[in-house]
Amino acid sequence: MVFLNGAFLPLEEAKVPVLDRGFIFGDGVYEVVPVYSKVPFRIEEHLARLERSLAAVGIRNPYTREQWRGFIGGIVERQPFEDQAVYFQVTRGVAKRDHAFPKHAEPTVFMMSNPLVPPASALVESGATAISARDNRWLRCDIKSISLIGNVLLRELSAEADAVETILFRDGKLTEASSSNVFIVKAGAIQSPPKNELILPGITYDVVVELARAHGLPLEFRDISEAEVRAADELWVTSSSKEVLAVVRLDGRAIGDGRPGPVFRRMYRLYQDFKHKVMRAGRRESISA
Ligand SMILES: Cc1ncc(COP(=O)(O)O)c(C=O)c1O
Repeated sequence: MVFLNGAFLPLEEAKVPVLDRGFIFGDGVYEVVPVYSKVPFRIEEHLARLERSLAAVGIRNPYTREQWRGFIGGIVERQPFEDQAVYFQVTRGVAKRDHAFPKHAEPTVFMMSNPLVPPASALVESGATAISARDNRWLRCDIKSISLIGNVLLRELSAEADAVETILFRDGKLTEASSSNVFIVKAGAIQSPPKNELILPGITYDVVVELARAHGLPLEFRDISEAEVRAADELWVTSSSKEVLAVVRLDGRAIGDGRPGPVFRRMYRLYQDFKHKVMRAGRRESISA
């Protein structure tokens, strides 16, 4: 079952008019919430980011937080599987094609849920490969826009190279990856670019940061050059579906000793423990040491 504009219905019956601005312009925003044992993870943070994305593009939020929580709960309980990735998007609605905002369109809301498949343990153990590319996306990557052509083209480069991600550099500096945030470790310190308009403020990024702080791991936010990434001891990507994953080869060259490093292993454990704590509690948990 999926959700469309207030109703739950089978996927085959969910239809959107061709003049929907999501279809015509990619004029909409979205979220993906991971769900473990039917418990949404960090749902308030995802809803807060949705609110920021909607406000940034001037689309009216059609629902209250409580309604969003209810609809997300509704989609989750209608799936036969426990661990899920709930996708939802809001577009500016259906209107005669014109770039300017329509006066009277109602936002279109679509929601679906698929099985959540975290990286296989063999990949977590061995580490992943990535390639790099120039970040040629627009300058508002902080908005979780459904216009993903830039990310799609960049991801395809690594897919063709049999790699899990494309790590992006803008003006010689690390931004993020095609669908994840990026951290490096150098001399024991976890480092990541600061949150600004050039990267998506990842919910997983925040979890990693909170876990690092709670456990006293050195942490720094700063501009990181391409050379520093290549010379890092460790390189990680983070996202709701990849969780925390070590990248051990970039453009065919080893990062560090070519194996997932000790700081990664520590953070991976902390992340899994926190996830299980949330699942056991069946609700939101805050991070403490
Ligand atoms: C471009 C980009 N950066 C970062 C992320 C990670 O965000 P989150 O941790 O909220 O999944 C995503 C998630 O899909 C993404 O598409």
